[in-house]
Amino acid sequence: MLGKSTFLAFLISLHPLLLSCSSASSGPPAQLAPGSSLSVEDHSRPFLVSTDTTFSCGFLEAGENAFSFSVWYTHASNKTPIWTANPGAPVNGRGSRITFRRDGDLALADANGTTVWESKTSSSGGMAITLLETGNLVISDPSSTTLWQSFDWPTDTLVPSQPLTKENRLVASYFSFYFDNDNVLRLLYDGPNISSIYWPSPDYGVFGNGRTDYNSSRVAVLDGDGVFVSSDGLVAHASDLGLPGVKRRLATDPDGIVRIYSLDAATGGWTVTWAAMAQPGSVHGLCGQNAICEYLPRLRCSCLPGYEMVDRQDSRKGCKPMFFSVSVTNCSQVQQPPEQRFKFVEVAQTDFYGYDLGFNSSVTFEHCKKLCLEMCLCTAFSYRLTGTGVCYPKGVLFNGYTSPNFPGSIYIKVPIDFDASSDSVSARTSSQGLACNPNGPEIVQGSPDTFKRPTRSNTKWSYLFAFATVLGVLDIIFIATSWWFLSSKQSIPAGSLEAAAGYRMVTSQFRRFTYRELKDATGNFKEELGRGGSGVVYRGVLDDKGKVVVAVKKLTNVSRGDEEFWAEMTVIGRINHINLVRIRGFCSQGKHKLLVYEYVDNESLDKHLFDPDRALPWRDRFRIALGTARGLAYLHHECLEWVIHCDVKPENILLTREFDAKLSKREGTTGDSSLEPSHMRGTTGYMAPEWALNVPINAKVDVYSYGIVLLEMVIGRRVSDQTTAGGERLEMSQIARLLRQAVDTGNVMPLVDGRLQGQFNPRQALEMVRISLSCMEERSSRPTMDDIAKVLMACDEGRAPRVQVMSFMTT
Ligand SMILES: *[C@@H]1O[C@H](CO)[C@@H](O)[C@H](O)[C@H]1NC(C)=O
Ligand SMILES: *[C@@H]1O[C@H](CO)[C@@H](O)[C@H](O)[C@H]1NC(C)=O
Ligand SMILES: *[C@@H]1O[C@H](CO)[C@@H](O)[C@H](O)[C@H]1NC(C)=O
Ligand SMILES: *[C@@H]1O[C@H](CO)[C@@H](O)[C@H](O)[C@H]1NC(C)=O
Ligand SMILES: *[C@@H]1O[C@H](CO)[C@@H](O)[C@H](O)[C@H]1NC(C)=O
Repeated sequence: MLGKSTFLAFLISLHPLLLSCSSASSGPPAQLAPGSSLSVEDHSRPFLVSTDTTFSCGFLEAGENAFSFSVWYTHASNKTPIWTANPGAPVNGRGSRITFRRDGDLALADANGTTVWESKTSSSGGMAITLLETGNLVISDPSSTTLWQSFDWPTDTLVPSQPLTKENRLVASYFSFYFDNDNVLRLLYDGPNISSIYWPSPDYGVFGNGRTDYNSSRVAVLDGDGVFVSSDGLVAHASDLGLPGVKRRLATDPDGIVRIYSLDAATGGWTVTWAAMAQPGSVHGLCGQNAICEYLPRLRCSCLPGYEMVDRQDSRKGCKPMFFSVSVTNCSQVQQPPEQRFKFVEVAQTDFYGYDLGFNSSVTFEHCKKLCLEMCLCTAFSYRLTGTGVCYPKGVLFNGYTSPNFPGSIYIKVPIDFDASSDSVSARTSSQGLACNPNGPEIVQGSPDTFKRPTRSNTKWSYLFAFATVLGVLDIIFIATSWWFLSSKQSIPAGSLEAAAGYRMVTSQFRRFTYRELKDATGNFKEELGRGGSGVVYRGVLDDKGKVVVAVKKLTNVSRGDEEFWAEMTVIGRINHINLVRIRGFCSQGKHKLLVYEYVDNESLDKHLFDPDRALPWRDRFRIALGTARGLAYLHHECLEWVIHCDVKPENILLTREFDAKLSKREGTTGDSSLEPSHMRGTTGYMAPEWALNVPINAKVDVYSYGIVLLEMVIGRRVSDQTTAGGERLEMSQIARLLRQAVDTGNVMPLVDGRLQGQFNPRQALEMVRISLSCMEERSSRPTMDDIAKVLMACDEGRAPRVQVMSFMTT
């Protein structure tokens, strides 16, 4: 450790020396006069290098015998271009040449001498071409007036200080990142046949997404600290915010997601520190017509039941029906009634965006089905279970994606004689798993040292654990919506918040509070709601846009500096799920560190489940089980990062008035004060056996705890309180044996809570016991939360079983 820092200090002191040497020697220059040129055969030599050596420009290999003239970060191991002349049209690896002509024109010539690209700056001589330390390639005249600069012609990337303006856009294949006509920064899929905007979410309006359309200056810029600010109110923070000297870039990637990357100086590799979307499934156009994009966790395209790939080599071409198309023009002329000609095949938790033939809320499933049957153009309908049932008949099926959190299904219209169980259906999951985009980057969010924790091993699990503890120390599984919340690195003086345009407009969003505001909101921390190891929770009322009741937690013993606190907030700020308690904002002002949560006012599950005078109805129990599973599945599988809850128990499942489960980490009254990162976390009775072993902890600890909670919902009592007839405490192995007997015989009746007096759904109960049993297994045999959510969904309200059969089941 000491040796390393001494060495570093040495390097730093040597640095000015190195610089002066290089500028004195005959190394690559930062500036060239007219008449200079470089041929592609010399591609190992840069054309220009910035004075501080950060950037180089010259020829980069862009394929077999193909080169592009680009600018790149000199010290990146894979020389990712940050700018390219003539993007998408590389030149031949033999005979091509870049020339800064005597007339001041920078020109790229292909092998046969044709000029394929030029800067169009020819005029009377005396000019120079310079690669600035910002990465900007500039052609200027003798009075240093800029005639042309690469910053005006971005390709798919921005570097710090390079503005994205109304004049340009970042383009990668069919995806564009640009300012739309209404001044909002957007992501657009503009394919050969369809075109649609997918970010910010088309399901919400401009304000609902935390943007404004008032500011017509249309400019967005990334700064060296990792803050990306756009004139439409978007503020994005890199997870390594403010780390000094980090080289960054923002790019539209070939998979349609905009990301910010930081260069790891040690390895020369790039780390993702921010991404516009956590769920790649919401990118449009990845899979083509009639195909579904799945995230497993790699992206993959598959065809709908009854459809096959148009082109096995190119998943973007989509899928075509294997039956005679149902939307033939003369379908209305056919005499036979539609119900005798068509039926529907369900694809669960799947949606297709756009191309709705209509929209009806509060209609029954049967009515929705009828609407689609009667519409000739209808090829499928989407039915969502939210509220009273929302129905979308669809004409064309584009932008399909599957997500365990999607509250509905798509029902595909197929001919009545179509056999959904035959190989046509299994075809969709066969093949070598066609990736939506094989070149898409691996999503690695942050790194242990982003959060300034020592890193010894680089295994996935230590990384996971780092996250669990980072979140754990703060004691937060509370959730927020977007990342645009942090307004500046400094503390904001009270009052200036109101002044910041757009800041108060979207009060439902995550934001930063001043200490004063929270002091006022809680009436000087008057009403205490709870207290625990990491802080005290108070009731508060925010008065923006009506009175909103919140829970404000004052954190004690936060030893981390502002910087780390911010970094953690950017992680937490990205988590957003209906079954997770939302965080509304935070305050970090000197020693004051506070968190503001959504207030959930119907008590926690334990109160409803273990009180002998109440009997929580079966429907609610099942709904809570499903909601909790979905919330955990989201944490484990769908966040940009892996997050482990580590303390799943009835006390941490808060219920809304409608008995929707909301997972949280609530301060209980039980002594729960061991919150040091190295300490065991969790609660006795719910903790997986591996906590006692010296092994890295993974998401399966939550699966174990969930299994216990699930069983408690069935039996209506604490599992840890179960005793034999003789009054002895039952061991887990004995409990597992009892459960196995029940599952094997298929009779769970004796296990089910007696207070329900037989009012329960036996199929659901059997499934719950079965899942619970599999959760208690050795951890590698436990299912994932995703698997569990899917199985529960399948037996929700007696719907038809899904196409997929889970292999983990222990029958
Ligand atoms: C030079 O080559 C390019 C492609 O390599 C071709 O499009 C162009 O027509 C050629 N020009 C001449 C003059 O042959
Ligand atoms: C519009 O955006 C620019 C750039 O972010 C900012 O400097 C300016 O103050 C904004 N104008 C208004 C009226 O908010
Ligand atoms: C676009 O539509 C045409 C005609 O419908 C079809 O042949 C072609 O494959 C489609 N292209 C893509 C990329 O889907
Ligand atoms: C139109 O309907 C008739 C039967 O009424 C059928 O024979 C014919 O093939 C249909 N035309 C098309 C284009 O599907
Ligand atoms: C459903 O919506 C369509 C058009 O949007 C409308 O014509 C129809 O009456 C609606 N049906 C119901 C039951 O609301």
